[in-house]
Amino acid sequence: MPDFDLVIRNGTVATATDVFDSDVGIRDGVIVALGQGLGAGAQDYDARGKLVLPGGIDSHTHIAEPRTGPTANADSFASGSASAALGGTTTVIGFARQARGGSIAAGVAEHLARAAESRIDYSFHMILTDPRPDILAEELPNLVAQGHRSFKIFLTYEGARISDAEALDVMATARRLGALVCIHAEHHDLIMFYTRALLAAGLTAPKHHAWAKPMVVESECVHRVCAMAEALDVPIQVFHVSGAESAEEIARAQARGLKVWGETCTQYLVLTAEDLDRPGFEGAKYVCSPAPRSQADQAALWEMIRRGVIQNVTSDHAPTRYAGPDGKTAFGLDAPFTQIPNGLPGLAARMPILFSEGMVKGRIDLPTFVSLTATHAAKLFGLHPRKGTIAIGSDADLAIWDPTKRVTLTQALMGDANDHTPYEGMAVTGWPETTLVRGVPVVEHGRVVGAAGHGRFLPRGPYPMIAPRGVFPGPFNPVDGVAV
Ligand code: URP
Ligand code: ZN
Ligand code: ZN
Repeated sequence: MPDFDLVIRNGTVATATDVFDSDVGIRDGVIVALGQGLGAGAQDYDARGKLVLPGGIDSHTHIAEPRTGPTANADSFASGSASAALGGTTTVIGFARQARGGSIAAGVAEHLARAAESRIDYSFHMILTDPRPDILAEELPNLVAQGHRSFKIFLTYEGARISDAEALDVMATARRLGALVCIHAEHHDLIMFYTRALLAAGLTAPKHHAWAKPMVVESECVHRVCAMAEALDVPIQVFHVSGAESAEEIARAQARGLKVWGETCTQYLVLTAEDLDRPGFEGAKYVCSPAPRSQADQAALWEMIRRGVIQNVTSDHAPTRYAGPDGKTAFGLDAPFTQIPNGLPGLAARMPILFSEGMVKGRIDLPTFVSLTATHAAKLFGLHPRKGTIAIGSDADLAIWDPTKRVTLTQALMGDANDHTPYEGMAVTGWPETTLVRGVPVVEHGRVVGAAGHGRFLPRGPYPMIAPRGVFPGPFNPVDGVAV
């Protein structure tokens, strides 16, 4: 009788704190032994020359999110999760959305049904587009108790954005319920002012998307949401920090002791606004919000990563095909930038690009790579230590990584249902060979082998990292209406 279901032998294990040579013994989907020369396994995997990494956690992914049309999200959970696993990711956090005037409970139920075909594990942030008193007081307490422990709010995008007053109500509710608020921070009215002026001036090409939202649009709003978080003593995560000034706002908030966490995305580390100016209408492939910025901003983000100001890197996978009636070109090849759907695909590319641009190029070390791609997100979203690390008792979610393999990124390698990758032609060093979710291969030697439906919903209970500090800027706690 073998001691283990599977032993991964002779690899180099990396966590967010350590790098060591060790076998990994797996039983019933869980890591049960670490050490050299482990006993017999029903199956053995020789990882000599490979890194054994915690499977990635991509905590910002728009998979199978419905839209009102005519454009559509290209992925189902079957295709999106295949793409994630091809890139070494074993858990995604997606978004269940409240329709304006509708119920978030209904949005969650519908998204749970879509996610049932996921090959990898998943959890949700709840997008609140209409935080009415009944939603805050009646629906959210139940949903948080069911394990949906984070909210996303948008301060821009027609149809999704909420006002500052509503954002404060959401933050107060999150504080009472022990949930984390994640924020898309851009100054909507400024974007609209710029946009009207650009359209009036006939400046409508994809590159003008970036002109409509210069950094001040983001950095002002990041400053504002940090102030709101400080006033209400509410922990927040600022999503998709795209460059120097907004990262500096996060750094300043952190220096004041606030629980403000900053996320950036792959695209802000390797793309720039110049990509929006590619020939023809190709720039449409790079339309996302915030817009990609400059090489100086990329350098600033790496510096903020090194300083620990930015602690997780996600894909913000938001796939819209380029071609077809539901694609980025749905309104024609000369459509104004306002009619190009926002968002880029990037599930499979995230970890390889981070490894290559970060680790291989000497910008970060291996534990930092692990933390950025898995461990920090696990901690921030209440999944640690079940997810995001290699430890006895953790789920056997692993990426067996060839650190020297050279790969040129192509759409075919992404494995999603999109028709292009913004990273086409990029050369990377380091590639996941095999990805295991709870001990079961989902990708084996670069091929998707995991069944749709293998993924499990991950409910998230209360956890101390997002507890409020109990510190207010004055003598009054405005959330509970009491003196402090
Ligand atoms: O352009 C982007 N980022 N689209 C996805 C939705 C969002 O704003 O996160
Ligand atoms: Zn966003
Ligand atoms: Zn997003």
